[in-house]
Amino acid sequence: MRTQVAIIGAGPSGLLLGQLLTRAGIANVILERHTPEYVLGRIRAGVLEQGAVAMLDEAGVGARLHAEGLVHGGIEILWAGTRHRVDLNGLTGGKNVIVYGQTEVTKDLMDARRASGATSVYEAEEVSVHGFDGTKPVVRYRHGGAAHELECDFIAGCDGFHGVCRQSVPTRAIRTYERVYPFGWLGLLSETPPVSHELIYVSHERGFALCSMRSHTRSRYYLQCSLDDKVEDWSDERFWEELGKRLDARAVADLVTGPSIEKSIAPLRSFVAEPLRFGRLFLAGDAGHIVPPTGAKGLNLAASDVRYLYDGLAEYYRKGATAGLDAYSERALRRIWKAERFSWWMTNLLHRFPENGPFGEKMQLAELDYLFSSKAALTALAENYVGLPY
Ligand code: APR
Ligand code: PHB
Repeated sequence: MRTQVAIIGAGPSGLLLGQLLTRAGIANVILERHTPEYVLGRIRAGVLEQGAVAMLDEAGVGARLHAEGLVHGGIEILWAGTRHRVDLNGLTGGKNVIVYGQTEVTKDLMDARRASGATSVYEAEEVSVHGFDGTKPVVRYRHGGAAHELECDFIAGCDGFHGVCRQSVPTRAIRTYERVYPFGWLGLLSETPPVSHELIYVSHERGFALCSMRSHTRSRYYLQCSLDDKVEDWSDERFWEELGKRLDARAVADLVTGPSIEKSIAPLRSFVAEPLRFGRLFLAGDAGHIVPPTGAKGLNLAASDVRYLYDGLAEYYRKGATAGLDAYSERALRRIWKAERFSWWMTNLLHRFPENGPFGEKMQLAELDYLFSSKAALTALAENYVGLPY
């Protein structure tokens, strides 16, 4: 088989890139290790910056997002027992975010790909990438018990943090930067109305908590937990009780509890690989970088990577020019590092870090106090939260 762009991974990055390429008449094939059902089963943050929304519109998959997504012009931060609102809209000259689950984004992209007739190979096994240093890259894989070869012009490594693409680059050609946080997030999804119409980020001495949502009838809550905790240790009752201890009285009164639909523990990590281009192999999305979920930048960074990569590929196929592809890594990394800084900062501000001791706690409280007494500081939070320009 031959194509122009071989895309490894059918997460949001691979599907979005594929959709844009297909609409531009650039042939592409997606190879995905798992089944569509498995890919849709992963629950992830659902806060979209305007830039990501624009990309989804450009890919022709914005209709349901605009109909069902919830427009949020602010968030709340609860600390020292009081909720403080961050007026995202007012502080950024009218920008909002849209709350719309990543599962729904993925579903919309999958539906559009199916409708376009472009080739996707799910359950592709033993995917391996070759020859990207030269002009004729090849992807090998097994499917349905047979070996296959896909010749292409370029390989897009959209295969997530544990994917094969980054791991196929010689270690001397790549540098990685990493910070692993000493706690996890225990998430619970329930068919209950959200406790508040905006997200509440909670800094509490028992640990961070977050009240988020998927719709007016479906809520997503998180608790900072120990990395040693197992999901089985957390009955729904224990989860709701602990959440109640970290909320203010009004939120406790408003909280509607119910059985969990999904419950899982995720570790928190900051990670960046440099560069993101190796000859004719490009890394995009989680394959090249990870942010801790505080601030919900993961999907939004995947969208900006795809913006730069798609523009470079489109320019190459339209004009034969390589300037956009040559600039890809540097352009993407400049935006990635700023989102890494913001996610790291928000994580440090709101979580308990017992190893930082009482001094560390005082620093957090001073920073929160400063934040809500300074329009400049709040504006910095707001402009990062709604998303820095592409
Ligand atoms: N061969 C084929 N497919 C693979 C391989 C492989 N060797 N390894 C991984 N994959 C697939 C995974 O099964 C997954 O479906 O690549 C896909 C990568 O998807 P994501 O992990 O969702 O990464 P990405 O598309 O970059 O999305 C970024 O998703 O992970 C969240 O928080 C992140 O919101 C961000 C967004
Ligand atoms: C979520 O809804 O899952 C979510 C929202 C905001 C975050 C992280 C996760 O910062």
